[in-house]
Amino acid sequence: MATSAAPRGAQTGNACAIRDLTVVYRVEGKEYPAVREVDLDVVAGEITAVIGESGSGKTTLAMAMLNAVQPPGRIASGSIEYPEVGDVLTLHGRALQRVRGDYVSMVFQTSQNSLNPLTRIGAQVMDLARSHGHRDKRAVLKEAAALCRQMSLDPDRVLTAYQHELSGGMRQRVGIMLALVLGPRLVLLDEPTTALDVLSQSEVLQILRDLQRERQFSALLITHDMGVVAELADRVAVMYAGRVVERGRTPLVLTNPQHPYTRSLIQSIPRLTGDLDEVRPLPGLPPSLTTIPRQGCVFRDRCRYHPAIADTQEPAMQSTEPDHWFACHLGGKLDD
Ligand SMILES: Nc1ncnc2c1ncn2[C@@H]1O[C@H](COP(=O)(O)OP(=O)(O)OP(=O)(O)O)[C@@H](O)[C@H]1O
Ligand SMILES: [Mg+2]
Repeated sequence: MATSAAPRGAQTGNACAIRDLTVVYRVEGKEYPAVREVDLDVVAGEITAVIGESGSGKTTLAMAMLNAVQPPGRIASGSIEYPEVGDVLTLHGRALQRVRGDYVSMVFQTSQNSLNPLTRIGAQVMDLARSHGHRDKRAVLKEAAALCRQMSLDPDRVLTAYQHELSGGMRQRVGIMLALVLGPRLVLLDEPTTALDVLSQSEVLQILRDLQRERQFSALLITHDMGVVAELADRVAVMYAGRVVERGRTPLVLTNPQHPYTRSLIQSIPRLTGDLDEVRPLPGLPPSLTTIPRQGCVFRDRCRYHPAIADTQEPAMQSTEPDHWFACHLGGKLDD
């Protein structure tokens, strides 16, 4: 059995290499880690999903990837390397602004928040083009119209509309259009479908898959839905209380989960288990930011195995097969 952290440094073939990332928030005068010692690669041309319950640190991780963590948050340590860009955490000002949009862009958890309520969508596209130094703004607008059409939106209507004139599903697509219009290499999608009804959800997921295949961008897809992971993601990282507890190629993680938390996430979904009788929701709640254990395994209080060592020692990342890593004292020896 191999035990080690992630591979060192940015490799060729990575759209992003995150190393030893810790992000803290200050609450009542004390700092607490919301993301802790995370190592993660986003492989170029692939969709990497990040899954975990509410509060596990998914959005904080994505904001760090834009070097956009705001007070009371702070990036305490680590690096986030993009090829040809370097460590985004060392950039600021104009250089950072250029990277956001040109290299990496984000579709926010509620796309409403990323749209300007006072400006028509087309004007927002032009602003984006201007702020990124695109001389040919018409070409960018043409690209916006093409993206709209690809997402079954009427560009004449959408580009002249204000956000309040659009439905939730349309706004979400506009968010995706704005994230893609400058042709970034990496797109961060923060729960792009949670605010939508089931039909619009599957439509938007289908659109994302088609766009990604056609344009070959890399994506980090944040979700709390293992079904979405199964449908869309090449790789998946499972987060719990700020830590990545398991990561690997999606089929390996789904068919052979090695961490008890991943196993419960899979068992809580009827369409993955295929049998309603076998659905077993995970009892209890994840810890809040201020109650995450500072030593030992962060999952131990909800773990049905809870070995004594988990109270004092953090499990190291280990691997029993290529492209599949997990952090658990039980070494994958789970008895069901
Ligand atoms: N501005 C803030 N101040 C203090 N704590 C914060 C702040 N933003 C987030 N947190 C805390 O950091 C932790 C991670 O939050 P984050 O929003 O990254 O989780 P998430 O996985 O995206 O959750 P969700 O699925 O609900 O979107 C949570 O405990 C949250 O309460
Ligand atoms: Mg979030």
